Amino acid sequence: MVAGNWKMNKNLQEGVALATELKNMVTNPACKVVIGTPFIHLATVAELLKGTPIEVAAENCADKEKGAFTGEVSAEMVRSTGATYCILGHSERRAYYHETAAILKDKVELALQNGLKPIFCIGEVKEEREANRQNEVVKAQLEGSLFHLSAEDFGKITLAYEPVWAIGTGLTATPQQAEEMHAYIRSLVAERYGKQVADDTTILYGGSCNEKNAAELFANEDVDGGLIGGASLIAEKFCAIIAAR
Ligand code: PGA
Repeated sequence: MVAGNWKMNKNLQEGVALATELKNMVTNPACKVVIGTPFIHLATVAELLKGTPIEVAAENCADKEKGAFTGEVSAEMVRSTGATYCILGHSERRAYYHETAAILKDKVELALQNGLKPIFCIGEVKEEREANRQNEVVKAQLEGSLFHLSAEDFGKITLAYEPVWAIGTGLTATPQQAEEMHAYIRSLVAERYGKQVADDTTILYGGSCNEKNAAELFANEDVDGGLIGGASLIAEKFCAIIAAR
């Protein structure tokens, strides 16, 4: 899978223009292609991409089902737009909006209950990497929000390993660092759910992945694609990354 994460970029008209470009360019991809857009784009972009190989993701959803939560957008609302995926646990949401493992656990459950497939982000910050604590951090993130799920529900999750020090910094993990962590993540999934589920789990790499380094990252056995921020905002770059998969 190659998934885009537009973050808080593009107004509605610009977003529709980008989605239209992608619709024309991504006609027969060799992998699953998803674009994550701001909430306000979802309905229009999902309609535009209906019947194409590109699926649409929200970048977040509420941790409550419905009701008096001014400004929030529920998983059910997201699903009603035609979006099929939901990015959850992004490090920017964990850091700036104080999303804890427990909150993310609720969001994952609501997404699944409403037929959305979570793209769940995990990853360590720079200080944790420097202290060689990346494995325990990622393990705790998986245990805190996902490992209570049944094997059937876990099968609907796509994982995205995004070392926080690599996001938007131009500092990419080396292919070796990525492979080491992806293999470790897969071993944790195997311990919890067995080898078959682990082999079937899609684990994306994210963090300054671009059209220049994608092929090298994706060549690793346990790297099943990418979650792309900055480079997903330019159709040619995003398409080159899809072609690298
Ligand atoms: P980046 O963002 O590709 O701009 O580093 C990736 C992400 O945050 O998902």
